[in-house]
Amino acid sequence: MSKVTCAVVPVAGYGTRFLPATKATPKEMLPVVDKPAIQYVVEEAVAAGLHDVLFITGRSKRALEDHFDDSPELEAELAKQNKSELLEKVKDPSELAKIHFVRQGVPKGLGHAVSMAKEHVGNNPFAVLLGDDLIDPRDFVLDDMLKVQAEHGGSVVLLMEVDPSEIHLYGSAQVEKTDKENVVKVTDLVEKPNAKDAPSNYAVIGRYLFDPAVFEVLEKTKPGKNGEIQLTDAMKTLAKDVKKEVGGGLHAVIFKGRRYDTGDKLSYLQSVVQLASEREDLGPAFKKWLKTFVNNLGN
Ligand code: G1P
Repeated sequence: MSKVTCAVVPVAGYGTRFLPATKATPKEMLPVVDKPAIQYVVEEAVAAGLHDVLFITGRSKRALEDHFDDSPELEAELAKQNKSELLEKVKDPSELAKIHFVRQGVPKGLGHAVSMAKEHVGNNPFAVLLGDDLIDPRDFVLDDMLKVQAEHGGSVVLLMEVDPSEIHLYGSAQVEKTDKENVVKVTDLVEKPNAKDAPSNYAVIGRYLFDPAVFEVLEKTKPGKNGEIQLTDAMKTLAKDVKKEVGGGLHAVIFKGRRYDTGDKLSYLQSVVQLASEREDLGPAFKKWLKTFVNNLGN
């Protein structure tokens, strides 16, 4: 099996949950402490050796393209002022990875967004990382997923147990045990079911490794939930109907670490507080203030 080098990152969504902040700014550019949320996602891909990053983008995402590009005037100005630390921070995003863009045109769902990567990816396995899902860098998980794909072949997804009241926000997976505690075989999937119809409380988190067979499956996948071409429906086909010899089969890693949904206001605030608390530069002063603040909150 060829090595995974490409991370596909769909970023064409509107970010309506964060209006009005996202009226003229892509939701992926909202800062988590002092870095845009999307930079954490790209850094995670690079940490797993995925140096080829393909954004599936859309209208009003120019700021995102600029963030991962050189900024000659700003760099020259910072160099002139001998602000070397800031200069590094400005250069980091453009030097992280080889960044490419494909426009989605009409957004017809997550499955449609991923199918746009076909020409770039070719006949190689690849990763998909969703920009709203921020995995705490201390709980890095992509390497575990890559090992499972190397061992079992096919595709691999990340699952996390959620409260039944939240399963309607996610893809839900039916699973079978394997001989490893944190690895399961996926036998069925339903996109955003009601709690009573969910096959389990294992929710799909936005990290996927795909066999290129997914492209053919996506071409045949009919619009599903909300009239959109759902990635979850294509994964269901990979799990149930596509033979292992031609790229079928779906396993999952069960994630027990810290993950934030930066598209959700409460989870976004939690990500800022958690990551700021851990920072060497900000953490001590921030935690000191936070403790006093919490003590004064009362009930
Ligand atoms: C998407 C997927 C869903 C998955 C979720 C993870 O939904 O369709 O299966 O569980 O990401 O964040 P979205 O949150 O984009 O509506």
